[in-house]
Amino acid sequence: MKIIGTGSAIPKKIVTNDMLSEFLDTSDAWIYPRTGIKYRHVISDEKLEDLAAEAAVKALENAGMKAEDLDFIICSNVVNEYVTPSLSCIIQGAIGATCPCLDINCACAGFMYALDIAEAHYKAGSVKNVLIVCAEEPTRMTSWKDRNVCVLFGDGAGAAVLTEGDNIKGIKLSAASATDKLYQIRTLEPTPYITKEEQNISLQMRGQDVFKFAVKASTGDIRYLLDKLGMKPDEIGHYLLHQANVRIINSIKEFLEQPDEKFPTNVETHGNSSSASCPILLDECNRKGILKRGETIALSAFGAGFISGAVIMEW
Ligand code: ACO
Repeated sequence: MKIIGTGSAIPKKIVTNDMLSEFLDTSDAWIYPRTGIKYRHVISDEKLEDLAAEAAVKALENAGMKAEDLDFIICSNVVNEYVTPSLSCIIQGAIGATCPCLDINCACAGFMYALDIAEAHYKAGSVKNVLIVCAEEPTRMTSWKDRNVCVLFGDGAGAAVLTEGDNIKGIKLSAASATDKLYQIRTLEPTPYITKEEQNISLQMRGQDVFKFAVKASTGDIRYLLDKLGMKPDEIGHYLLHQANVRIINSIKEFLEQPDEKFPTNVETHGNSSSASCPILLDECNRKGILKRGETIALSAFGAGFISGAVIMEW
């Protein structure tokens, strides 16, 4: 397939590091050097499904495609207010599409997994036009009393429209179960038969383990694809990496021995918006004209699971 349109939508509320230090024992002097984050956009009166639909409409406009021409909508989401119906079904109704819909929960690597699903359906001959929307509100998963976690995240939605083509050159997906390193637990409705102990636990993270996994998985996925395609890191025009932490991005950059300008970032102003991070960055680069038609780009993301994925494609 090939990507022919992108879109994004972010909440209007900006929360700076200084604003966090008003109610948390933290500071810009701690957060910025360790993460690269200056501020993040946080959901206040918006609904995530509205941001998701807005990103989808922008991507369709950018692609010059009508919603009724879509054959499939894939939505990547970890948490939103609806348990059911799926967010993809809510988006379908909001944009006036009629095609089948699928939600996936692949944490921060959702965009890579969604691209893989779209490509597989396209190769099977069952779809021609696919909308991918990654919409996330991780700020509703964290405790805002836990300075270890809540300072890292922001909310938003990113979308891409794909159609027939052979621009996707390779996809590598990985998973390595680690349920004690990055997780959130919520209780379900009680029944008369539940005898086990249950509790709500906000997002918990072993930061240094996540950091090490992220660098290892991302460099491994990208290296695997480069080797498979017989390419050198120099042949990639831009690397669009999951925007979790600028130090993770710098470690991957050093491993690949590539210059700064090949690694656009927005973690400074968005924080980590989970699976929405890569498509939001892709949309910003697309609209700013940073990506040149015909150049080869690499996308890579990693997250809870642990799972990770990378894609090499022609832009
Ligand atoms: N403000 C001030 N102090 C803090 C804060 C904060 N926000 N958070 C932690 N600290 C303190 C800790 O309590 C600790 O204090 P102590 O030494 O007295 O115990 C001290 O700072 C150092 O903590 P470390 O964990 O050693 O700090 P580190 O340098 O490892 O940085 C960080 C922590 C930024 C979380 C880092 O480990 C990291 O970036 N990990 C990756 C996290 C990530 O990217 N997660 C998401 C990826 S997956 C996904 O996207 C879902």
